[in-house]
Formats: sequence, structure tokens, C-alpha cells
Amino acid sequence: MEKTQLEELLSKMSLEDKIAQLLQISGGYYEEDDMLTGPANLYSITEKVVYNLGSVINTIGARQTKSVQKRYLEHSNHKIPLLFMADIINGLKTIFPIPLGLACSFDMVLIKKTAETAAREAAVSGQHVTFSPMVDLVRDARWGRVLESSGEDTFLNCQYASAMVEGYQGESFDSGENIAACVKHFAAYGAAVAGREYNTVDMSERVLREDYLPAYKAAVDAGCEMVMTSFNVVDGIPASANKKLLKDILRGEWGFDKVIISDASAIQEIVAHGVAEDEKEAARLAIEASVDIDMMSPVYVNHLKELIEEGSISEQAIDKAVLRILELKNKFGLFEHPFGAADEEKEKQVILCKEHRTLAREAAAKACVLLKNEGFLPLGETKKIALIGPYADNKDLLGIWAVHGNREDTVTLKTAMEERLPKELLKTAKGSKIVEDTKRIQSFGSIFELEEDYSDKEVLQKEAMEAAKEADCIVLALGEHFLQGGEGGSRGDITIPEPQIQLYRSLKTLGKPIAVLLFNGRPLDLSAIEDADAVLECWFPGTEGGHGIADVLFGTVNPSGKLTMSFPYCTGQVPVYYNELKTGRPYKKEFENTRFGSKYTDIPNEPRYPFGYGLSYTTFTYHNLQLDKNQLNKRDCIHATVEVENTGAYDGEETVQLYIQDCVGSAARPVKELKGFQKVFLKKGEKKQIAFEIKEEMLRFYTASMEYKSEKGRFLIFVGTNSSDCIMCEFELKE
Ligand code: GLC
Repeated sequence: MEKTQLEELLSKMSLEDKIAQLLQISGGYYEEDDMLTGPANLYSITEKVVYNLGSVINTIGARQTKSVQKRYLEHSNHKIPLLFMADIINGLKTIFPIPLGLACSFDMVLIKKTAETAAREAAVSGQHVTFSPMVDLVRDARWGRVLESSGEDTFLNCQYASAMVEGYQGESFDSGENIAACVKHFAAYGAAVAGREYNTVDMSERVLREDYLPAYKAAVDAGCEMVMTSFNVVDGIPASANKKLLKDILRGEWGFDKVIISDASAIQEIVAHGVAEDEKEAARLAIEASVDIDMMSPVYVNHLKELIEEGSISEQAIDKAVLRILELKNKFGLFEHPFGAADEEKEKQVILCKEHRTLAREAAAKACVLLKNEGFLPLGETKKIALIGPYADNKDLLGIWAVHGNREDTVTLKTAMEERLPKELLKTAKGSKIVEDTKRIQSFGSIFELEEDYSDKEVLQKEAMEAAKEADCIVLALGEHFLQGGEGGSRGDITIPEPQIQLYRSLKTLGKPIAVLLFNGRPLDLSAIEDADAVLECWFPGTEGGHGIADVLFGTVNPSGKLTMSFPYCTGQVPVYYNELKTGRPYKKEFENTRFGSKYTDIPNEPRYPFGYGLSYTTFTYHNLQLDKNQLNKRDCIHATVEVENTGAYDGEETVQLYIQDCVGSAARPVKELKGFQKVFLKKGEKKQIAFEIKEEMLRFYTASMEYKSEKGRFLIFVGTNSSDCIMCEFELKE
């Protein structure tokens, strides 16, 4: 349709029909025989609204979406097709590593491919929009949703955001292989105080703009079709009612004139925040802040008409919201082809096809981060191996947000190792439960039916010890229960669950080499296993997790992942992140025994493993960091070069990282900030020169007067293998 036709359609719609377009409910209700049992009861809305609302969430499948669309259009007043939206966070059916793991690849080409693959499977399954990428910057490992993010660094999060949006959306929705991206959660949900779910967020505008907003803007600049508001307040105002955030910054400064959707019931929750007396007031605040879609709450459909009739809001505000939604539908050609790209035949060819599984296997391997290795890995294929632990043969490798994935499609670590090793060289035992009991995490409800694990602890331990006694070495697959993270998954204690620590301690008494593999969705306190011979962080690795991890374990793939979120020594060190400010008493090693420095009395300041950290089976050394000049001005750039050499026994890939410190600013500046990275493959013994360009715009920040610009002065450049281990030099910005 042309825009004029959309405007003509709008002009024919009644006020009720327009308001109904602003509601999104679960598509599940349309799939029931008597669909009105759902929304009519839950939202106390009429059948007329149900047949004229704008979009549904989490109805997946070509057949299902066609059936719902057909039934809906038969009753719809203006034959305006539904939009189908879903949480496609790390894949639809072919599941990739959780985002916190995938980001550790630092491989934007790979990351974009995973989004393209997810989009291909989603489009043929009738989806139009995914509620992804989530780009909330995270610094607190207690928060369960860190697993959905790409970590603690603004620069990397921006790169990740762009890659994901470009991967999902491609060049056009006419391709039948692309879906619209919805960046979330706008804004700064990752800064929930104490990592407690849905808790308050409170920060200066400087920190908000400097650290938290850029990744959302990167998604918008990449052409993201939607933005989702977050549950939290920003400067005391709930995001869904926050005019400064939505109208001044998102729509005003960034020029975003597309659809804003609230998070689930977030408009209704403005009342719970105590910022609206009742739902009618909440409706007014949200529509005035230009939130277009009310997800999973009846506030708009129950109160907007009254607000217009009493003159509290203008009908024009509704018209704008409806037009944005109609324009998005039009981009998919839904008025002409209401079933869109939904195609049962293509579904069969595309879903979980070999090409997709191969990519998932590559991603699982590249997400792995080698944290420790005392010469133990890679494993040979002649040793007797005891594969032990609750993740040895566990299909729950998809992560909590793989709501449309199927655990039965997962390749477990045991399956993958059995493909490589003769039976006599592999013994497997579960060894322990994941957690003692699942009551407090079971509250996720019916989406994940949890089989209660009644295994006997002593029996499990005995089987493990027997398997281990016959082996030359132990591969111990430990981790969090997948329900210990994700939404509603905050933890006050981020240690490995107790039953598994007990298992580790028992096995340790055998004096055999132990490689611990971790399956988790957040940085953990690894004190209990710090004397393991090797530690490989595997995250929740997805459908091909077993294959990808086995590729790393046996050296088919040399691990190259780098942490995007710091691993603290203990929960008490949280939040810990690399790009902190200096403070007035910066910690210095030589003052270790003085009392009055910015430090703890019982743990180091640095995390156990810092941002950018990750080992390889080989070693890389950095030499000769050189600048072609040591003065910079706004018109030109400095060329920095460094030599990186593979000094070990394996070919491998290194992520060369570039950090910059602004030594003096009108506002305090971080000790260093990531400003670039390059991946380089080096054969053993090979050396390459890596070049970076340093430009003035890389040095801009929010000054004391909140202007976004650079300030002349001294700068330090750090280049290295992680945020802590770098070589350094200096330059000056002249004006
Ligand atoms: C949830 C999440 C959000 C998700 C939405 C729809 O509460 O906060 O990330 O996209 O609801 O499921």
C-alpha cells in the first residue's frame, strides 16, 4: 500500500478500532477452540477488540500463524492483518549460544550470521518481529538476564547491536527470509540495583549517555524497526512513561519515528511504581510518552477512549501510533499477502537444516572461553576419560530464552564424545544433581515442565568415583540450572551449586587431572574449583553444544573466546568491570599494605578473570607498539601498529584489543576503554603486524558541561590480549 492509502484506511477506522491496534496479547488464545476464554477473561476485553487488535506474541509456525491470521481476518472490521512477534533471542529452532557466550567470539560476521539464520527460520514460521537484540549493558553478575546481553563494554555492545539488527533485517522484508528487530530494554535495565530483578535503576545522565544508551542508538542507527521500553525507572520515571527518554532522546535526538512497544504489562506497572494513581492515568502517561503498543495489558483498550472523549489526550496521538503500526505491517506487504512468508514446505527444508546446525556448532566452539589450562587440554584420543557431572549428558544446553527451541534436538557432550572415542576409552556418570532442590527456581511456571530429580546423592557420587578410578583423566561438566538465570533469575550467591562442589571435592581426592567445563549464564565465583587443571567456560552453548565443545576439547578448534563480562572473585566484589574510574586513591601494588587506598582488605581489586580475557592452546606475544606520530588533531589520525606473534605449538586465532585512556578530562575518565579490536589467525611461529587508526572522534565523551566532545591533552594507548595484559604508549590531542 502507498502511505496515502494507509492514511485513508486510518480515516475510516473507528476510535475503538484504532485503539485495538495498540494492544498485543499472546497468540495462544487464538489457538484455543474457544479463543475468548483467554483475553476476554484475562483482560476483560470484548470479542470486538480481540478480532481487531494489532499484534500477537509467541504464536510460532507457518500452519499456526496462517490459521490464526485467517480466523482473525474473517472477523476483523477492516481486514488489517495481525503482526506476529516472538522472543527469538538465540535462534528459533536452531539454537545458538546465549548472547553472553556468542559475544565472547568477538566475531561480528559470525554474530550477524546467527541472526540471519534465526530470521530465516522465523520468517518461514510466520514471524514478523523478534524481541531482540537485548543490548542492556551489564556489570552485575547477580542479575539473571546478563545471559541475554553482550556484556559490560559499550563499544562491543554497539558492534553486537548493529550486527544483530543487520542480520535479522537484511536489505528488505520482501526476501521472505528477514524479520524486524526490536531492540530492548530501553533503557538501562541491566543496572538494576544489587542485580535484583525488576529493581530500581538510578544513575547520572552522564553515565546513562556515556555507558548505557549507545548500544540502543547503534541498533536504531542500523535501522531497527522497533524499540521496547524497560520495566525500570530512569531518573525516577518508569521508562514507559518517560517523555525525556522516549520523546526527547529516542524520537527527538535520534530521529526514531517507528514503533515503540512496552515490555509485558509495563504500562500497567506504572501504577505499581506509584507514578500513576490508576490505569487510566497510566494510559495517559504512556501514550503521551509515545509508546505505541501496550504489550499484554488492557490499559490502552480500557482507558484511551475515555481520555480522548474527556479531552485529556488528543486523538492525533492515537492516529500517530496506529499509523506507525500500519506502516510496519505494510513493510511486510501484509495487506496484499496477509500470510507473509509463512510456508510449511520451506519450514521443513529450513528448520534445523545441516547448514544451520553447522553454524551452531561453529558458534558453540567460538563462544567457549579457555579460563585455565595447566597443559591438560586439548585431550588426546588415546586416554581413558571419565566424563562426569550433571551436564555430561544433559540436553538442557539451550538457555532459558530458547522458548521455541526443542531440547530433544540438542547434541549432548556425551553424544559428541562417543562419536570420537571407542567405548573402552569413555566412562560417563552424572555424579550429582545440578541443585539441591528446584522449588525457588521452579516458579517459572508451565513453559518448562521440570522433572524433579530424585536421584540418590550417595549413589550418584559412588558411580562417579568408580568411573573416575578407571580413567586417566576427568572431564567434569558442571554449571547452573538453566532456570537459575534469565528473567526472574537473580542470585544473591553466584557460586557453583553445592551438590556439584561436593562432587568436585570428592573427585579431587583421586589425584587425577580434572578439566572443569562450565555451563552457566553468568560470571560465577569459581573459588571452589580454582585448583582444577583446566577450566573451559561453555555457557549454554545451544543445539550443537556437545559437538562444538568436543571440537574444542580435542583440539579440532583452538579456543579463541574472550570474556565480555568480568568474573569476580566472589559475590562481594560485584559489580566489577574493567572500565572503572580512577578514584582519588587509585590502588597501586606498591601501596598494597597501606590502609587508605581504594581496595578491599580480603580480596584483590581486579576480578579473577577480566574483560577481554581468554586463553588459547597456543601463546601470543605482543611487540613493538608504534605510533606514526604522537600528536593528533581533529583533521587527521594516528596509525598505531603492533606485532603479534604465535609463539606456541598450535595455529590459533587471537583477538587483538585496543584500549585508550584519557589521562585528564573535565569529568573523570575510565582507566581504559575498548576502542577497537581485530581478530587475527596466526599459524604456529607466524608473526603479523596489526594496524589501528586513532581518530579524534574516538576520544569524545560527555564533558563537565555535558557537551559530547573531545578535550585536548594526554592519552594512553593500550594494546593487548585482554583488558589487563597490554603494552602501552602515549600521544597528545592538540586541540
Ligand atoms: C518479558 C521480557 C522481554 C520479553 C517480553 C515478551 O517480560 O522482559 O524481554 O521480550 O516479556 O516475552
